[in-house]
Amino acid sequence: MSTTLAPRQLRDLPGPRGLPLLGQLLEIEPARFHQQLEDWRAAHGDLFRLRLARREFMVVAEPEACAAALRDRPGGLGRTQRIVSVAAAMGFSGVFSANGDDWRRQRPMVMAALDPRHLRSYYPSLAKVTARFAGAWRRAAEGGEAIELQTSLMRYTVDAISGLAFGVDTNTIESEGDVIQQHLDKLMPAIFRRTLAPLELWRLGLSRADREVAAAVREVAAAVEGFIAQARVRLAQDPALREKPRNLIEAMIAAADTPGSGITDRDLAGNVKTMLLAGEDTTAHTLAWMIDLLARNPEALARARAEVDRVLAGRPWPESIDEVAALDYVEACAHETMRLKPVAPIMALQTERSSVIAGVELPAGALVMFLFRAPAVDARHFPDPQRFDPGRWLEGGGADAGSAKRIAMPFGAGPRICPGRYLALVEIKTVIAMLLAGFEILGVDTPDGGPPQERLALTMAPVGLRLRLACRRSSAGPGP
Ligand code: HEM
Repeated sequence: MSTTLAPRQLRDLPGPRGLPLLGQLLEIEPARFHQQLEDWRAAHGDLFRLRLARREFMVVAEPEACAAALRDRPGGLGRTQRIVSVAAAMGFSGVFSANGDDWRRQRPMVMAALDPRHLRSYYPSLAKVTARFAGAWRRAAEGGEAIELQTSLMRYTVDAISGLAFGVDTNTIESEGDVIQQHLDKLMPAIFRRTLAPLELWRLGLSRADREVAAAVREVAAAVEGFIAQARVRLAQDPALREKPRNLIEAMIAAADTPGSGITDRDLAGNVKTMLLAGEDTTAHTLAWMIDLLARNPEALARARAEVDRVLAGRPWPESIDEVAALDYVEACAHETMRLKPVAPIMALQTERSSVIAGVELPAGALVMFLFRAPAVDARHFPDPQRFDPGRWLEGGGADAGSAKRIAMPFGAGPRICPGRYLALVEIKTVIAMLLAGFEILGVDTPDGGPPQERLALTMAPVGLRLRLACRRSSAGPGP
């Protein structure tokens, strides 16, 4: 391994030739930045450097070096200064954008709230949102209307996270107009643009887009204050909830109110908003990719449907977390989707102190870009890597799932691994089970008829998918 050799310097690494001072800055296309990085990796190898004006990155695609670096947190690496300042300016200071002691203080509260053991008591709320969602898809199927897949899925995930996390029924699935989801939709791309921008001109608030973002920030902040106030009223009326919270926000408030927690009201609001953002696009885009991949792979689709039919036995969606847990093949389809189409194909971090990463000596404050997808679609790690083969995630399926999981890291790795991963998988499996139990997929259309284009805006989404469904006659159907 390179780490056993004498450390190299960043300047010793290969990299694309760029302009003096600017480097690759003018070449960057933000929406396909991940693909550009993957192309440079194909040309320069698993370790190279990249300059974007004053910011120089070391890019790492070697999975063991990635995993080792990700484990060295919070001491060795943290979120970049830019992420921290953009999140703070937009009121999103929470566990995702925190470093060092700030992160240590917040992570236990978020972990407690997202503890997989709580998912059982949260599940009825998810089933309720799923029932409503099934109804909306049924109406579209019966009316012969194509479904705008991302918009529809994001309404599901925002209702799901609001219901599960905050005990509030936002019902964006059935409402039109000024819903919180429309404001959230503006924030993710804005965070991405601001993170990549060479200068922080957005701070001046001069452009229309920046003013719209400011308005969205205010709307989301007001909605979140409302969620927190409602939860505080419930806790005051029923103090037993502090011991047995029914949702994430009650759990977080109970943790924040514990003497000595060090959690401020600002931390609480920041983490509530972090959950809303972290739980929406990621899960919705993964579902969109998965539905597209299943539609393109009829064998996998048939096997997933057979499993759903067996487990649900005529019920229109899983009624309990135990039914969700029994959907092993559907879960393998989710892992395979996230291998090929991870919503976080790249991640930038910053060294907190001078460190040696992948055998390269870096000073404190150095920027490191990790490529997560590149090794997961490399034939050295996965045979026939472009093939959608969920079976490889099952026992005896060819790949040793343990080592495969160490190479494909859709949820990150180490102490900062995504705390929402259990919840995300439950949501994904529930929606796919509802889809396969109640509907036939007539088609997933793309704007140009080819495979979906990838668009990066902090998370990687498929572009312009439209889902056409028919109701299945053989099943009990998805209810009202
Ligand atoms: C398919 C869905 C999801 C994917 C692919 C995903 C992926 C990720 C990734 C790659 C990270 C960075 C991990 C690292 O730094 O090593 C992360 C962090 C995080 N995710 Fe997720 N996520 C998903 C869903 C969720 C959900 C549903 C929630 C909560 C409601 C959530 C909450 C968070 C939080 C709070 C962090 C920050 C953790 C920290 O920095 O300590 N995520 N996620």
